[in-house]
Amino acid sequence: MLKKPITLLLCIFMAATLAAQTQIDPKSIKDKMQWFADAKLGIFIHCGIYSVNGIDESWSFFSRKISYTDYMKQLKGFTMKNYDPAAWADLIQESGARYSVITTKHHDGVALYPTKLSTLSVVAQTPAKRDIISPFFAELRKRGIKTGTYFSLLDWSHPDYPAFIQDSARYSVSNDYNRWNKFRAFAQGQLMEVARTFNPDIMWFDGDWEHSAEEWEAQKIRTLLLANNPTVVINGRLRGYGDYVTPEQNVPVTTPAYPWWELCMTINNSWGYQGRDQQFKTPFEIITIFIDAVSHGGNLLLDFGPKADGTIQDEQVHVLKELGAWNKRNGEGIFGTIAGIPPGHFAGPTTLSKDSTTLFLFLPGKTSGQVMIKGLMNEIKEISMLGSNAKLNHKVVGKIQWSHVPGLVYIDVPASGQDQYVTVLKLKLDKPVKLYRGMGGFE
Ligand code: GLC
Repeated sequence: MLKKPITLLLCIFMAATLAAQTQIDPKSIKDKMQWFADAKLGIFIHCGIYSVNGIDESWSFFSRKISYTDYMKQLKGFTMKNYDPAAWADLIQESGARYSVITTKHHDGVALYPTKLSTLSVVAQTPAKRDIISPFFAELRKRGIKTGTYFSLLDWSHPDYPAFIQDSARYSVSNDYNRWNKFRAFAQGQLMEVARTFNPDIMWFDGDWEHSAEEWEAQKIRTLLLANNPTVVINGRLRGYGDYVTPEQNVPVTTPAYPWWELCMTINNSWGYQGRDQQFKTPFEIITIFIDAVSHGGNLLLDFGPKADGTIQDEQVHVLKELGAWNKRNGEGIFGTIAGIPPGHFAGPTTLSKDSTTLFLFLPGKTSGQVMIKGLMNEIKEISMLGSNAKLNHKVVGKIQWSHVPGLVYIDVPASGQDQYVTVLKLKLDKPVKLYRGMGGFE
């Protein structure tokens, strides 16, 4: 969701944010990150008053598409009268997701829980009059799904926050450090309130880009969070003090050079509910994007935005259900796996079992005939197709006896029994995968 006037600026901020993911030594957090690495799929929820008019979350007043006063009038329409946290959790479970992250406060400053530090919350100021987060987390936990709290560090509503509307700031930090200190104490108080009240598995920050690590006291925030819960996972938007990298909407082409990363992406083009936005990605598109992320060692955090009455759009439900059905048939090649073999060996995404003795090949769409793997030094013990009992034949072509270069593996893919979206082949190897990476033997 990049708005025109701020697109460039935001891109620069995002690039800077990604580049700054280096303060934490991956070795020091390896153990606590294991569940996250295995989880692969999370569901993101942007729940907020912006769903009343169906406009951009917070950005709509910041970029003057609506006045601040009119934006805040949405408080009166946020009823959540059909809110069913168990139904949300059921849908998330059905999608196959292992964790879910929900907005506790977006850039508009409206808390979705009963904060003691401000009167701006859906509990105090909307007809919903209720805490959205606690009952939802209780339902997630019943189902063994991990919890995450989205929290915007920046707060355009707070009277002591420097930025307000894009071209009219209240003040600047360098001109009034005391005022900034006041805001920072509030923000840190609220984020610790979220951490202590909900004890989430993930603290998912956003909006760090308007201030430096020093201004936010990012390192101190990290220390406070870890003192509260040493195993909490912190996303990458904490000015270099997070545990993983968080690209947004853009699918990485090369593998991010950090052990853990998560692509967050919307089902249509909006984070929150926007009825006009009918640009839904199809189940096939979502499934192939998901596989792509996982094949590069990443997770997908897939977003939907509930309506102001708490219900979820049919189209979004449909995508989540189809994704879940695909996961049921093919999840063995996804959950608990590691990144696949490098490009060049197989024309498509791949993953590996943790011990690297099973290789999964993903075949989007219908394939009939043969698929080919180059440079595989292993012997293949067995090939099967997930979701079916069929065993597949293969042959090795062009193996020259005197050469150390392996032959090409051609696998016969039967026309019947293939998956509606993406078929997964499971190759059991004789030992951990070994690849020939040369130029053909005369290198
Ligand atoms: C961006 C946007 C925000 C959205 C978030 C999701 O940072 O500012 O509106 O909530 O991305 O990742």
